[in-house]
Amino acid sequence: MSDAAKLAAIPTLVNPPADFVAQANISGMEAYRALYQTAVNDPGAFWGGLAEKELDWFQRFEKALDWQAPFAKWFQGGKMNVSYNCVDRHTKTARKNKAAIIFEGEPGDQRIITYQELHRLVCRFASSLLHLDLKTGDRAIIYMPMIPEAAIAMLGCARLGIPHSVVFGGFSAEALKARIQDLEAKVVITADAGWRRGKEIRLKDAVDEAVKSCPSVESVIVYKRTGCDVVMQQGRDHWWHVLDETAREDVEAVPLDSEHPLYVLYTSGTTGKPKGILHTSAGYLLQATMTMKWVFDIKESDTYWCTADVGWVTGHSYVVYGPLSVGATTLMYEGAPDTPAFDRWWRIVDKYAVSIFYTSPTAIRALIRQGDHWPERHKLSTIRLLGSVGEPINPAAWEWFHRVIGHNNCPIVDTWWQTETGAILIAPMPGATPLKPGSGTLPMPGIQPQIVDNAGNPVDDGKEGYLILRTPWPSMLRTIWGDPERYKEQYWSKVPGAYFTGDAARRDKDGYFWVLGRVDDVMNVSGHRLSTMEIESALVRHPSVAEAAVVGKPHEITGQAVCCFVTLKKGIGDHEKLGVELRQWVAHEIGPFARPEEIRFSEALPKTRSGKIMRRLLREIVTSHTVVGDVTTLEDMNVITTLAAQHDED
Ligand code: WT7
Repeated sequence: MSDAAKLAAIPTLVNPPADFVAQANISGMEAYRALYQTAVNDPGAFWGGLAEKELDWFQRFEKALDWQAPFAKWFQGGKMNVSYNCVDRHTKTARKNKAAIIFEGEPGDQRIITYQELHRLVCRFASSLLHLDLKTGDRAIIYMPMIPEAAIAMLGCARLGIPHSVVFGGFSAEALKARIQDLEAKVVITADAGWRRGKEIRLKDAVDEAVKSCPSVESVIVYKRTGCDVVMQQGRDHWWHVLDETAREDVEAVPLDSEHPLYVLYTSGTTGKPKGILHTSAGYLLQATMTMKWVFDIKESDTYWCTADVGWVTGHSYVVYGPLSVGATTLMYEGAPDTPAFDRWWRIVDKYAVSIFYTSPTAIRALIRQGDHWPERHKLSTIRLLGSVGEPINPAAWEWFHRVIGHNNCPIVDTWWQTETGAILIAPMPGATPLKPGSGTLPMPGIQPQIVDNAGNPVDDGKEGYLILRTPWPSMLRTIWGDPERYKEQYWSKVPGAYFTGDAARRDKDGYFWVLGRVDDVMNVSGHRLSTMEIESALVRHPSVAEAAVVGKPHEITGQAVCCFVTLKKGIGDHEKLGVELRQWVAHEIGPFARPEEIRFSEALPKTRSGKIMRRLLREIVTSHTVVGDVTTLEDMNVITTLAAQHDED
């Protein structure tokens, strides 16, 4: 079949397979609608009932919701513990010998950790934290490879009420430092290094560099993963395995308030400074738990694999907290999908009989490019459900995922959510919702998204507008760490009284949501959020740069790529050399994953009369190579003519 024929063959509506419906947690649209309606009728009773049934409590809560807009408190008066819910409760049932975590390292090493063993490991790690004098309320930074100890560290912290912030291992020492400082963390939990494409990613070195200017850090815990040489600073640095020698196994989970901070996850916003998104305990865990059941149709017998790194929110909600809360088997793979060859993921699927597979459109597109012979070498017959997250899934990627990986008989759940929402808000229920490829379909129970215009008025179905939410949900962010004003300003001021997602979307006549992308200065590169301002600030810190403007440029594989327009200081010449240097500079300042695809040098940048850079025009140049939008506020039209002409010469 030609590519055009494949695209033409994508159905506009894909009904759930009958055998899937027959076994589904939510079967048929009637069941979905009934559940949805129950939540609309009485949200407090709906979530309160689920919280009571689905979570284990040390003390029952008094009230489902206390809403002092825009600040929500869920399940006040209740005492619980996330680590207890993810680990201990399963050790009291037949699940105690079930695999909680299946781990495969990049070199091929394997570990299977049962719930009982996970309990032992989490208790021992919590004991090490206590030994280092850490207390409920102190903060921890976790900077780890994708190994079980990353999850154990998260659960160990949660056990004691020590809010953690996981920093993705692809972030630089600079970025790590900023996060440690903002959180005033007392401990950093790391590893010597991790494996990626056969190379050691040295994490402890970056920690040493970062911690130099972080007076709050009293201890660094180092897990030995690769065995590379590291410098251990006496008194500050401790090997994980040495602490473990004297660790106890009877460390009880601390009963914590429902609203006790569970974690802070930094994400890019519209300014240069990352935002520390705060998630708390009971509400967060409840919605992660429910979406595992509703969207992933999780069953006792599943082997569930979400390929995200624990450094991103997907890794928090759908590698660690969600799957473990429901007592599922969650798979973690340390390395790259192309090591040693492009069928590594499919080998893993067959080896462990993976039944639910959740990944990103970027990964799918990268694998498509390598050819169908890689997946075709493997059976992939155990997969029953596929998932997608991070950006809209384009028709070609959807079709390939459905046919080549799902063998035309697995539903694909396209899940829309954000770091801020904590859990999936718009997605199909795979045994109920007819799919429309490219649409996240319908909202979860308890979620009432709207599409509005600039003035906050709902737009007609079929029309594009801003995606907003008017009512609170249990896993919503509670604030920006240390900056409630920024929280109000960022999320609750664009449309008064409503949460602004930053996304544009439209709803079709069937009520299906189509998310179109960001409307703010946030780029989505490989499903990771990057702020134009953050990269611009990094660029202007370079001694040769006078001014910089960054925009996302459409990219075949990664969705968007980072494109930088740079004005140099007077008298600086060698563009070719500087282009290479500036790309490297950004990788050093933020992390290798933020390395720009392209640096374009320009004598001037397009600005308004008041001096604001008009990124919108630059976006048009990189997207359509011309400027058609409104230029009446532009100060000097020549700048745009020159920039557009420059491209034609390329
Ligand atoms: C932004 C959130 C949620 C985990 C991964 C990214 C975009 C995410 C989808 C989807 C269309 C999507 C949105 C959103 N996005 N999922 N299924 N369809 N767009 O988390 O870094 O917080 O980014 O990713 O633009 O606002 P994040």
